[in-house]
Amino acid sequence: QQVLYFSRHGESEFNVTGRIGGDAPLSPRGRLYAQALAKHVQSLNIPSLQVWTSTLKRTKATAAGIQAPQQHLPELDEIYSGDCESLTYEELAAHFPRELALRDCEKLRYRYPQGESYLDVMKRLQSVLFQMESESNILTISHQAVLRCVLGYFLDTEPEEVPYVHVPLHTIIKLTLHGHSYRMETVKMPI
Ligand code: F6P
Repeated sequence: QQVLYFSRHGESEFNVTGRIGGDAPLSPRGRLYAQALAKHVQSLNIPSLQVWTSTLKRTKATAAGIQAPQQHLPELDEIYSGDCESLTYEELAAHFPRELALRDCEKLRYRYPQGESYLDVMKRLQSVLFQMESESNILTISHQAVLRCVLGYFLDTEPEEVPYVHVPLHTIIKLTLHGHSYRMETVKMPI
């Protein structure tokens, strides 16, 4: 039976201050999640576990304590917000009000200036999704927008809804294939 596991990185310093993108380290709470995740994964004794992360500090640090082979894939990096990287949503509203309004009405297709859209992320994820689909017991540690696209793919979410899929922090998501569809279970770590 095919099983795939997913998690966002632990809380980062940018999550704390509400900044988007960037390559911030984990916050103290994020580091606690990394420890709790490693302990939990250990207790599951998953055969031939592989860990896939993005190339950013916060996913690598989240995976660091897990005893399993690890790969760091640029396809799993967070949506790149180009000229808007490292801003808060308030700063976006102040400096790029038109951009924010455009994004609000077309979140799936909206592309940040010099950056990416959700559709761009879906495209760059394609080969990784095919690989994931053909394997089992992979734990993918990535980011909010990327995991929305990944879960949307496996759960057949309408494309327009993908940018709004709920992917909470500090939660392990498990997808199990039953027949032709995936069932989702979540475990929230008490951090
Ligand atoms: O805020 C965390 C974050 O991962 C940002 O880095 C990213 O830009 C954002 O979430 C994606 O979510 P949304 O598309 O809702 O802004």
